[in-house]
Amino acid sequence: MKLTGPFTQILPLAGLPLKGAIADDQLQIITSGGVLTENGLVVEVGNFEKLRKDHPKATTEEVEGDQVLLPGFIDCHTHICFAGNRAKDYAMRIAGKSYLEIARSGGGIWDSVTQTRGATQEQLVDLLAQRVDRHLKDGVTTIEVKSGYGLSVEQELKQLRAIRAAAENSQADLVATCLAAHILPKDFGGPASEYLEHILNNLLPKIKKENLAGRVDIFIEDSAFNASNSTCYLSVAKQMGFDITVHADQFTPGGSEVAVKAGAVSADHLEASTEKEIKGLVASVTVAVALPGASLGLGIGFAPARRLLDAGACLAIASDWNPGSAPMGDLLMQASILGAYEKLTTAETFAALTYRAAKALNLNDRGTLQKGSLADMQAYPCKDHRQILYQQGKLKPARVWRKGEIL
Ligand code: NIG
Ligand code: FE
Repeated sequence: MKLTGPFTQILPLAGLPLKGAIADDQLQIITSGGVLTENGLVVEVGNFEKLRKDHPKATTEEVEGDQVLLPGFIDCHTHICFAGNRAKDYAMRIAGKSYLEIARSGGGIWDSVTQTRGATQEQLVDLLAQRVDRHLKDGVTTIEVKSGYGLSVEQELKQLRAIRAAAENSQADLVATCLAAHILPKDFGGPASEYLEHILNNLLPKIKKENLAGRVDIFIEDSAFNASNSTCYLSVAKQMGFDITVHADQFTPGGSEVAVKAGAVSADHLEASTEKEIKGLVASVTVAVALPGASLGLGIGFAPARRLLDAGACLAIASDWNPGSAPMGDLLMQASILGAYEKLTTAETFAALTYRAAKALNLNDRGTLQKGSLADMQAYPCKDHRQILYQQGKLKPARVWRKGEIL
């Protein structure tokens, strides 16, 4: 057993509600705290000196100076398995060009598909590992990673195998998702319904066989897949045993309704959600995931995070880190900015980055610091937890632990 501390403050984020608004006075703050861990799990969180007296045989891992301890962050939506970049798209976008003009000039998702297809699996592993390392240093200990820049059976498998290889060599926990239904690939030569059927028949069984991913995602949008094709696709994927998640309501509303009806674990984006979509999400088990990095990258409004919480939704925040709409990839910075615009309490933002994000990935072993949860933790060099969001992402953790081991 190991006792780590003393921490100026520990925020275990335990005992908070899964859905709806959270006031800051609901946050439990342990001062002069310690964490007792064993075999990668939290055994007890409490006063450091008391834990030391109660467990004299535990080895002590001393922490120096002021440090505030939180559970590791969980980024429940990324596309960080890609090659190349889309700086050209970004320059065109900030100069005022439309999505269609950018796509017509050779940009958009298809450009990243071409660049990613041109990379070897080993090159993808390297690129992914670099991004994972950056996230780990920022205290993000669990990272969802989507395919979706392959868009053929072999190329999607290449991406998913790269994610698995990176996961095997990484200290972070990577959660793979198949996003073969990102857009209709230009070289498929048939309608969307046929492409989705092709994926269901020829890709998903291989993913199952190799155990490459347990989750399936689809982009529901005018420029991608429509509601009726998506409904069929998701229901078959679900019958095959995959968890379902959806890129929903990004530019036009409607996708989240499909997600809710399909029993999706999450509906992500939601920038265009109206009261109708919000009501649907609130009445469901589907986690609403805001992606402020995509709003910042595209220069569009944020998801209605405040209204979702007030209505009673479970709100998570993720980075959407990808080469097109969200190239920045700084989860804490993006969450801090979303909080400032949407008026989220500190408790709501921390919940959205931890145990509520775990829920979006259907993981119930992490996101809080309490008996039995994974000892994935991060310590910020400050006296008061409020300094973390106050610095809007510039204050980075001094220490990060994964399963109780310091990185
Ligand atoms: O989540 N919306 C669809 N997919 C990504 C963008 C991917 C890209 O532009 O390469 C997103 O924003
Ligand atoms: Fe995305």
